[in-house]
Amino acid sequence: MSSTVEVHVKRQDGAGKEPYWQKFHVPYQYGMNVITILQEIQRNPTDADGRKTTPVSWDCSCLEEVCGACTMVINGHVRQSCSALVDKLEQPIILEPMRKFPVVRDLVVDRARMFEAMKRVKAWVTVDGTYNLGPAEKQPPKQQQELYEFSRCMTCGCCVDACPQYTSENTFVGPAAIGQTFLFNRNKAGKFEEEDRLNTLMEEGGIHECGNAQNCVRVCPKDIPLTRSIAALNKDTLKQALKNMFLK
Ligand code: SF4
Ligand code: SF4
Ligand code: FES
Repeated sequence: MSSTVEVHVKRQDGAGKEPYWQKFHVPYQYGMNVITILQEIQRNPTDADGRKTTPVSWDCSCLEEVCGACTMVINGHVRQSCSALVDKLEQPIILEPMRKFPVVRDLVVDRARMFEAMKRVKAWVTVDGTYNLGPAEKQPPKQQQELYEFSRCMTCGCCVDACPQYTSENTFVGPAAIGQTFLFNRNKAGKFEEEDRLNTLMEEGGIHECGNAQNCVRVCPKDIPLTRSIAALNKDTLKQALKNMFLK
């Protein structure tokens, strides 16, 4: 391993500004990850030609692949930068912002669309009320296990980044929100809002936008079986559509 790491960063000075590339040489440290590289550049913002520049902006929080905030495109693959070890990456290391969200600055993107989709599908269990709702019904262990997989979603956005159907031309809620719809519809306490969620998934930007390309399931760092939730909710929305037709 050479004593420096070569890094190419796709930079952008602000929303709507022209992107440009900048090259850096960063001193190698054993066990370093992409966040360490960005911290080194922040400490000494000098490009590979020795010119002083501005520090590269990026997002992070947990540093242990739990919050999803540090997600970016590394050597062409969308993933978390805190768990991207330099020793396991080809050099030069190419860093780009996520491709489906608007860039705020450099590697920082605005993931509001994904969080708005979570609100659209009511990705929560309503617990507020004017009286005590009492304990929720117990879940059988098998169901707990199935739902646990979906509960590990960290809203990193890798799945929407990889989804060919998630574009700026449509309002597709995307695979993460579909996965969370499944989680809360199958949860006994979340069932109260099941119909609302299914009706939302039948609106513009709903589940019918999914082309079943299965890219989402391949890139999810938590191995969430997103396509299983898509198949199940396709059936559930069909049943809901029939119910709406005959019972309303
Ligand atoms: S299955 Fe394909 S089209 Fe559907 S949400 Fe996943 S990546 Fe997108
Ligand atoms: S489903 Fe997976 S890829 Fe998508 S936001 Fe959640 S953790 Fe990230
Ligand atoms: S900083 Fe939280 S996932 Fe990387």
